Amino acid sequence: MSEYREFLTKDGSCSLKSLFFQENFHSSLGALEETKIKFTAPSDLQRFKGESLSVLDICFGMGYNSASLLDKLIKQKSYLNLYALEIDKKPLEYSLSNKSFLKLWAPKVKKIFKSLYQKDYFEDQFFQCRILWGDAREKISSIPSDYKFDLIYLDGFSPQKCPQVWTIEFLSKVTEKLNSQGSLITYSSSAAVRKTLRNLGLEIFSIKPNFNNRTFWSQGTIAISKFDKNKLEPNCIFEKLSLMEEEHLLTKASIPYRDQDLNSSKEDIIKKRLDEQLSSNLLPTKKWREKWGMTKLSFKS
Ligand SMILES: C[S@@+](CC[C@H](N)C(=O)[O-])C[C@H]1O[C@@H](n2cnc3c(N)ncnc32)[C@H](O)[C@@H]1O
Repeated sequence: MSEYREFLTKDGSCSLKSLFFQENFHSSLGALEETKIKFTAPSDLQRFKGESLSVLDICFGMGYNSASLLDKLIKQKSYLNLYALEIDKKPLEYSLSNKSFLKLWAPKVKKIFKSLYQKDYFEDQFFQCRILWGDAREKISSIPSDYKFDLIYLDGFSPQKCPQVWTIEFLSKVTEKLNSQGSLITYSSSAAVRKTLRNLGLEIFSIKPNFNNRTFWSQGTIAISKFDKNKLEPNCIFEKLSLMEEEHLLTKASIPYRDQDLNSSKEDIIKKRLDEQLSSNLLPTKKWREKWGMTKLSFKS
């Protein structure tokens, strides 16, 4: 675990910092709270009570998002098909050895995680779960091509630290795997990610900031495939982008990350985007920030 440093977040739940990516897995305000506000609540899992659903968890890490999902589905007796993608086994190893993490969930979550760690697989009457270890850019192609998801969680490190999982090419593969009316949910409110998702034909919404923390103007993004407003109304958790957010998409910050053959290095992806930003006529992001009185702190993508 030398590549990771553990730390306690403000809600009492534990998290890790990756020394390689130089970034925390979760906000220091609360790992558990972040999972609940940014992933579980926007999933509106109650609509699947007693029914079946399929979920793809990209960048599984310690497994907070899947654990919270499983915990809810166990209680409401739903049937789940879960795929998870993750490059490193160590964060899951850490979760399995951490009593305070395991205590957050129904005991069955530990059983499932143990099986995922040892056999990459878990199956019983309610749940079929698989984890594919390796680079998500490659492993996503191992999911059967006709397999589609109701929910996709995308929880990679931030686009500047790990652009590999936020490029047009990768997001295109990811969104192809959504069912009609299926949602991709991410904590990111980056203009590049939002613009890419919109250009891929998805309807995008902003996850509303929570009352305890008004510093950030959004808690993330929900992108819905083949959105039909009669079937799924925006609810109190997410809403249409505000004028400020729409204008963000008109700035140089909206220039996408590109990775033509899905095997570029982080440095190449960042450099290509910087070159494109330098030669672009779009509004400098600084101007947008000034117009809306945005500080660096409130501008976390
Ligand atoms: C922000 S953390 C995930 C947090 C996670 N959802 C949790 O609950 O702990 C990002 C994760 O992405 C993984 N990762 C980084 N690059 C990846 C890649 N190319 N493919 C798959 N996983 C990757 C890291 O190993 C790390 O576990």
